[in-house]
Amino acid sequence: MADKKRILTGIRPTGALHLGHYAGALENWLRLQHEYECYFLIADYQVSDYADDFERVRQAVWDVALDWLAVGLDPQASHFVIESQVPENAELATWLSWLLPLGMLQRNPTLKAEMAEIEAGHKSVPVAFFTYPVLQAANILLPRAHLVPVGEDQSPHIEMTRELARRFNRQFGDVFPEPEGLVGRVPRLVGTDGQAKMSKSIGNTIELKDAEDVVNEKVRRMYTDPTRLRATDPGHVEGNPVFMFHDAFNPDKDEVEDLKERYRAGRVGDVEVKQKLAKALNDLLGPIRERRAHFEAHPGLVRDALEKGCREAKAIAQETMAMVRDALQIDYLRSDS
Ligand code: TRP
Repeated sequence: MADKKRILTGIRPTGALHLGHYAGALENWLRLQHEYECYFLIADYQVSDYADDFERVRQAVWDVALDWLAVGLDPQASHFVIESQVPENAELATWLSWLLPLGMLQRNPTLKAEMAEIEAGHKSVPVAFFTYPVLQAANILLPRAHLVPVGEDQSPHIEMTRELARRFNRQFGDVFPEPEGLVGRVPRLVGTDGQAKMSKSIGNTIELKDAEDVVNEKVRRMYTDPTRLRATDPGHVEGNPVFMFHDAFNPDKDEVEDLKERYRAGRVGDVEVKQKLAKALNDLLGPIRERRAHFEAHPGLVRDALEKGCREAKAIAQETMAMVRDALQIDYLRSDS
């Protein structure tokens, strides 16, 4: 345990998790959780774009923890952390923000895109939203993590975190390892409507907790090749979300190849392709749903998992903050100084 490398990664609590989270993150975390010492963080300081719906944030904290348990993340092997239960995150972010030129945030492409999205919804951007990448850097540096499994869109934040670690270490002495990003197998999953990204706010998700008939119905209505009017028309496989989902989630690669071949040749209807996809998704989600139901019926287990994770995260946070205060030499009131 002691010489395992440390991982920290996080999710914003905006709602229950969906297939995009699974393919882009959770599936990867499941593999990593026994190889590394993992801190999985619910980033409830970083959803200031939901300030007008705090109830949703509170609910989502539980939903995320439930979904983590449901997919098989093991709170004994790893640490489930709620960010605000470890306020050292905010403390470290304050010091780190000293070392970050304003221009670096202003130029951050992911942040820029997200702020534009908020403004497109005719809302103003909270100051806390503009500075969330600093909190994210603090999340990563607080347990002195070596690796950060994230989606591609998070790369600017990881780069910024590395820069902050270097700057701190150079000016105040070595405290932080320079963390490295680790991009997953499916960097970004399309939505069921064919839009670039599966996202709750667009309403094009399949949630991990969706019931079997809900999955069937969502797949039945999925966007497919719009140029194809009859099953005998040759169809397009590339860029077709139904086949992207097959590639991402159907473990029967021969079946997928056969469907693609027949689709291109106009020898299979969308109905069959979709039925096979729905079956593959339900095979994946069935056991997840069952475990979720178990934990929903035993909320004490969810609470215990979070309580243990927060306690352990707090311990390493205090250790790091002692190192930080030492490095900054801000122990002004120590009696023997
Ligand atoms: N910003 C990340 C996202 O939107 C979530 C996140 C918060 C995170 N803190 C983190 C990811 C720390 C990695 C490490 O997906």
